[in-house]
Order: sequence, then structure tokens, then C-alpha cells
Amino acid sequence: MSTNGLSKPRILTGDTPTGRLHIGHYVGSIENRLALQDQYECYFLIANKHAFTTRADKPDDIRQSVIDIATDWLAVGIDPNKSAMVLQSEVPAIDELTFFFAMLLPFNRVMRNPTLAQEIKDKDLGDKYPFGFPLYAVGQCADILAFRPLLVPVGEDQIPHLEMTREVARRFNQLYCGVNPHVEDKDHLAKGGLFPVIEPKLGRIRRLVGTGAPNPETGQLYKMSKSLNNAIFLSDDADVVTKKVMSMYTDPTRLRATDPGHVRGNPVFTYHDAFNPNHEEVQDLKSRYTKGKVGDVEVKQKLVVALNTFLEPIRQRRAELEAQPGYLEDVLAEGSRKARAEARETLRLAKDAMGLNYFPKARARVESLV
Ligand code: TRP
Repeated sequence: MSTNGLSKPRILTGDTPTGRLHIGHYVGSIENRLALQDQYECYFLIANKHAFTTRADKPDDIRQSVIDIATDWLAVGIDPNKSAMVLQSEVPAIDELTFFFAMLLPFNRVMRNPTLAQEIKDKDLGDKYPFGFPLYAVGQCADILAFRPLLVPVGEDQIPHLEMTREVARRFNQLYCGVNPHVEDKDHLAKGGLFPVIEPKLGRIRRLVGTGAPNPETGQLYKMSKSLNNAIFLSDDADVVTKKVMSMYTDPTRLRATDPGHVRGNPVFTYHDAFNPNHEEVQDLKSRYTKGKVGDVEVKQKLVVALNTFLEPIRQRRAELEAQPGYLEDVLAEGSRKARAEARETLRLAKDAMGLNYFPKARARVESLV
């Protein structure tokens, strides 16, 4: 694997601080981050500036969400000794890159990004959204490329943003680094490109469904999402998890425990598959369910146990963190400091490639001072 001239290949990914993280985030992307922490140099970004694109009037909420996400990350086991936890607003080089990258994407291309279009619909933004809203998608290209990573672990909804990032990298390398348009994505660095044409890494479960009933129009189950009120949060205590699971949507065609039930598309079994490590138990429940030999209550009670077993160590680490005020601030300050240096170096290389290095002598003097 090409390491881009760096000692370890890099990963960058992030979350927009819009609230606490739930078990859908866990299987979508967090699990991958935890698994890759040892082999890769990791940067995990809290995209707090992006939060302002739809909630500029709620700075206090955004501030609280940053703390919630950072706490969730540490609680699930992100290790700040291995991975940099980065606050986007502390890395100004990202913004400078955003401006340059905005020239490499046609305006209509950005507006056709399906994730943006979906968000405009879901959040009912109509035509009232600020100029900065679509700009965030360009900003995300800069979040990523500022660290020149090879892999970007994300949930499925982020793929359109990563495709745009790949286009920006190719275009930059072709325009400013002399990379021939016929060069394959994997060869861009070897052929003199500055930016890797990054690869997405999807999670074990791409789109975890929520706890509630399906969309009445389409019959499709909704994705787990805080705003749809159908999420189980990583920070939910055991009682809350019990309540949420016991009132979960299951198989609507089944009126009695003796009716044969459906396992496929039944969220209770989707969660068993995702979070119950006792495969025999899950198989047994499924086979009894389809024969009408087990009630929803037993299936749900076993799911409660599985989920609470999974969440318990996370709760314990959260409690430990809460007993150490000031620790979170240190972690974010240190991660952001490391990120700032790396992103500044990328920006310098990008400006060199673009012919924006007007004062090399002065820069050498300044650099000898820092
Ligand atoms: N847009 C992502 C989300 O809403 C968060 C994000 C911002 C991100 N910058 C990123 C994800 C860079 C991956 C890489 O969850």
C-alpha cells in the first residue's frame, strides 16, 4: 500500500455535531474507526463549522453537541494517544483549501450532490438555506484532503461527498501537478499528484433502521436518526434502552405469539443480528419466531440484554470521563494542534503547486522561527 511518503497511512473521518451518537453511527462508521486505530494514523474531525450551515442561530446547542460527540468518542474507545480528535474550527488551513477547491467543481455539480438534495428535503430547507449550506460539501472535500488520507470510513449517506472529494483530488492533481488525465486513481501520488484519490470504507451495516414503524407512503423503514425520534443512543441508560426496545416496531402481521412471524425486515431481528454476539440464541429465536413458538416479549427481552451488555462498558468509560473535568479540553486541544500542523503543511504544498509561493525567502525566515 502506498503510504504517501508518510510513516503510516492515514485515515480521516468526522461527524457533524448535531446531537449525541446512536447505535446506527456505531455500526455505520465508529466500529471501523476503532478497528483501524492501530494500523493507521487517524484524524477524527468534529465538523462544528458545518453545524452552523443549518443552525447559525443556535451556537449554544452546537457547543453542547461538540462536547457530547467528543465524550461519545472517548466513551466508545477512541484512544487519544493513537488518534487525533480534531475541532474543525481550530484548523484554518481547511478553509483556505475550501476556497481553492470551490473553483474546481462546477456550481451545478455541487447542487446535484444527492446528499445535499436529500438534506434540503429532510430538513425542509426549501430555498431558504444560506449560501454556506451547499458550500459545506466543498468544505468536506477540504476536511478530507487537508490530511491526504487514503481511507475515509463513513456511513452510506456520505458517499456522494466522497465522490466529490475524489473529483477534486483528480482535478487538482491534473491542473497543478501535471498528472495526466489517463492516470488511474491509485497511481495519482506516484505520478506526482499532491492529493490521493481517496477510498471510502463503509461499515458492517450501512443503514441501520430506527425503532419505529415504516414510512406510510413507501412502506420502507426509516433510517435511525435523532430527528426522527427512533434512535437508541450510546449514552442511553439501561432503563431507557429497555423502554425503547420493549416498545419497538416488529412484525405487524403477527397478532398472537402463536402466529408465524417474519424475521426479514423486522427491526428487532436486525438489531439481534447487529448486536447479539450469541448467534445460536439468535438462530433459535428466529426459527421459533417463524413457527409461532416465541412471543415478541421474549425476543425483545433478549435484545435488551444484548444491547445493555454492549453498551455497559461504554457507560462505564463515560462515567470515568465525567469524573475528570478538563480532560476533554486537553484531548481536543492536543488533537487540534497536531491537525493544524498537518493541514498547514498540505496547504503549503497546495499553494506551491498553484504558484502561490510568492515569498519563499520570507517564508524560510518565518519557518525558522516556529
Ligand atoms: N458530513 C459528515 C456528517 O454529517 C461529517 C463530516 C464532515 C465528515 N467532514 C467530514 C465525514 C469529512 C467524513 C469526512 O456526518
